[in-house]
Amino acid sequence: MNFRLSEEHEMIRKMVRDFAEKEVAPTAAERDEEERFDREIFDKMAELGLTGIPWPEEYGGIGSDYLAYCIAVEELSRVCASTGVTLSAHTSLAGWPLYKFGSEEQKQKYLKPMAQGEKIGGYGLTEPGSGSDAGGMRTTARLEGDHYILNGSKIFITNGGVADIYVVFALTDPSSKHKGTSAFIIEKDFEGFSVGKKEKKLGIRSSPTTEIIFEECKVPKENLLGQEGDGFKIAMMTLDGGRNGIAAQAVGIAQGALDASVAYAKERHQFGKPIAANQGISFKLADMATSVEASRLLTYQAAWLESNGLPYGKESAMSKLLAGDTAMKVTTEAVQIFGGYGYTKDYPVERFMRDAKITQIYEGTQEIQRLVISRMLTK
Ligand code: CAA
Repeated sequence: MNFRLSEEHEMIRKMVRDFAEKEVAPTAAERDEEERFDREIFDKMAELGLTGIPWPEEYGGIGSDYLAYCIAVEELSRVCASTGVTLSAHTSLAGWPLYKFGSEEQKQKYLKPMAQGEKIGGYGLTEPGSGSDAGGMRTTARLEGDHYILNGSKIFITNGGVADIYVVFALTDPSSKHKGTSAFIIEKDFEGFSVGKKEKKLGIRSSPTTEIIFEECKVPKENLLGQEGDGFKIAMMTLDGGRNGIAAQAVGIAQGALDASVAYAKERHQFGKPIAANQGISFKLADMATSVEASRLLTYQAAWLESNGLPYGKESAMSKLLAGDTAMKVTTEAVQIFGGYGYTKDYPVERFMRDAKITQIYEGTQEIQRLVISRMLTK
């Protein structure tokens, strides 16, 4: 057993932290306010190799692992959770199914430019009528000659509108729910594809979330991902790893809030002493740090399991459950420590608190994580 990160992982942490502090943090509040996605930040991440961390070099990646990827998402989210989820959705939700289920041709055509950061990836599962019940989707795909024709819409799409490539799920056999679902690779320029409403959100406001619409959308037959009927399993397996990316995002948000709180508690004086000298504050900091560390360990463990080819679905659901709740709790305490100042936009903790909330909702609500964990315990 060894709880030390390898030199490679430490190097990645240092590189991403430097990058996040120099290039991402300075504009995080402004991008949040303006709900503005910054493609330049994504391009700079690409230059550093961050857009393809776990993928082999032959597919444009840097040949590292899921732990390194989680560390990167964590460090970005420590200053800007929107940038963290941009990378997470791009890598876990779009890159992963292409890597695992794509043909060699599909990997060269789609995964490679994504890993190199020339293209951004997205993932379309949720629909207006099917959120937690992902199998209740209505979007259909019928085969006509050399094309599938897709009709329907997907909502709450992270990277919606800025992504070039989407992995999307649709019913090829509407009469059989799970077994009638198939996965498709959609290019943003396909006929019949369009981007719909952009959501106005509480948090992660510089990460665009939109609807995507398919109206007689023509998808070449060769863009079927896996086999017909494999779609639901592909969607679920993708989320198994994706959830750990969100756990990493949550750890980063919580760490950012903790760091800001420790600094503030030492410098803010009341009653003639730093507020950190009061147990009411210092014990809060101790509890926050303990929860962050526990969440980080669970997240790294799930990433390590995946990197080593071991089962990780249960652990990934656990890490998201713990880290999401930790992020919410720690950021709320951070606002409390900052008092009135924490409630203003002069400090980043209110943004961290708004950003934390989504980690309890997306890639499966906390309630769905409990369902996944309990099913695995009792099956
Ligand atoms: N791996 C492989 N196969 C799986 C699987 C997994 N993790 N989970 C389920 N399956 C298989 C089952 O084995 C079963 O196969 P068989 O029919 O061959 O037995 C089939 O899929 C159906 O499984 P269930 O009966 O368990 O399916 P269910 O309808 O009860 O749903 C669920 C299970 C866990 C509730 C699922 O619907 C779910 O995960 N819901 C939440 C959806 C979600 O997380 N959405 C997030 C959207 S993405 C997002 O949020 C992106 C973003 O913005 C960043």
